[in-house]
Amino acid sequence: MGELPPLTKKEVEKWRERTGKSKEIFKLTKKYIPFGVNSNYRAWEPYPPYFTKAKGSRIWDADGNEYIDYNLAFGVAVAGHSHPRLLEVIEERVRNGTILGFEYEKVYQLAEIISKRFNVDMVRFQSTGLEATLHALRIARGCTGRSKIIKFLGNYHGSHDFGLVATKPNIYAAGWVKRPAKVPSGLGVSEGALSEVLVAQYGDLESVEMIVRENPDDVAAIILEPVAMNMGMVIPSKEFMKGLRRICDEYGIILVFDEVKTSGKLYHGAEEYFNVKPDIKTFAKAIGGGYPISAVGGKKELMEYVGPGLIPHAGTFNTNPLAVDAAIVTLDEILTKDALDRSIRYNEELVKAYKDIMSDEGVPHRIVYFGNSGTIFFSDHDINTWHDFLKYQRVGMWWAYFIGMMNRGVVATAPGYDEQWTVSVQHTEEDIEITIEALKDVAKILKEPIPDFRIIEAF
Ligand SMILES: Cc1ncc(COP(=O)(O)O)c(C=O)c1O
Repeated sequence: MGELPPLTKKEVEKWRERTGKSKEIFKLTKKYIPFGVNSNYRAWEPYPPYFTKAKGSRIWDADGNEYIDYNLAFGVAVAGHSHPRLLEVIEERVRNGTILGFEYEKVYQLAEIISKRFNVDMVRFQSTGLEATLHALRIARGCTGRSKIIKFLGNYHGSHDFGLVATKPNIYAAGWVKRPAKVPSGLGVSEGALSEVLVAQYGDLESVEMIVRENPDDVAAIILEPVAMNMGMVIPSKEFMKGLRRICDEYGIILVFDEVKTSGKLYHGAEEYFNVKPDIKTFAKAIGGGYPISAVGGKKELMEYVGPGLIPHAGTFNTNPLAVDAAIVTLDEILTKDALDRSIRYNEELVKAYKDIMSDEGVPHRIVYFGNSGTIFFSDHDINTWHDFLKYQRVGMWWAYFIGMMNRGVVATAPGYDEQWTVSVQHTEEDIEITIEALKDVAKILKEPIPDFRIIEAF
């Protein structure tokens, strides 16, 4: 990475001083757990921070440092942490059994809430986002009798083999802009899955059409993040989305919106913004209020093929009452239209402050936001694709910003230069004010010529 300039170096040293306990825990943990983490995205150099507890908009690390949390577990805790209403419901549930092994009587209520709010006819539930997208793709293959899937460079759909293709390749592996390379996201990805995935450029209809014309009878599904939140934040044009709908209709392809993240950002999710209806949607993260639950839902004529002797779908923990009760109270009582609108207003305040502060200090930036969420690219150029991201995002500056904010008691975004922040319904005006003050301070560090480094760890 090269020698760090003085202010940035000071921040890194300060961070290490503040996180001595995490360093010790890492030493113990790495003996038993590879890289000391249970999700590769949590691995850090030289060691990851370990955390102890969270409440409301706040989270505490093992050293007792308190932070305002805009990571919210990568967009899960839009309800905030340990919401008092959730606490009541969960306490009651723990007393009455957390797993039944049969269908739970309230599952109907949750299905109805999801169906009405997110405009899907029928749903099936699982525990994680990866399961939801895996099942969405299986439903598409099962209903069309076709095998191929089109996904977009830089989109992430979870840690299953169909999703682990062309997620975050480095510049040498990303391929031509119009025809991104079909590159596995690491070792051990199934050759079979790779052979069934075709990779298109995000936001580029021509690149999709090219692939579809070459495979007119083979494509079962086009899956995408309607707002790409695994390359910072990229909002494609409404014309692109309408174009995808048109191509799918023309070629009999199932259009899948992966709303694992977007379902927590706007009340009705991405369809509210694009006004384009996909055939299948997947939901996870925010819908469970911090409990593991996901859903795959869509048109009745597709969903009714999920069943015994038809399309396989199963899971021991599916619709456990803990997760179902949590999701009902989260969607019905906590993530209400009013509460989400408030979080969106706070986000707009944050966005304005980011723009003003970075402009005043002359820091190169692009701010993109959607609903209660946003991101800062340290770049002089707009970023619309993963190729743009690789070329323009100044990763060194991003880390200086992130560590600087942590040292001032703010987890400013999900930890990753390709992530974003989310404002929960429990964030307060005071949280926003503290964050803005921290940002003013950190922007001064970012004026330093911070050495950049290329993204080489992904391939
Ligand atoms: C858009 C998207 N889809 C799917 C997933 C996978 O969800 P999970 O980590 O719950 O398996 C993620 C996770 O970050 C995601 O961002």
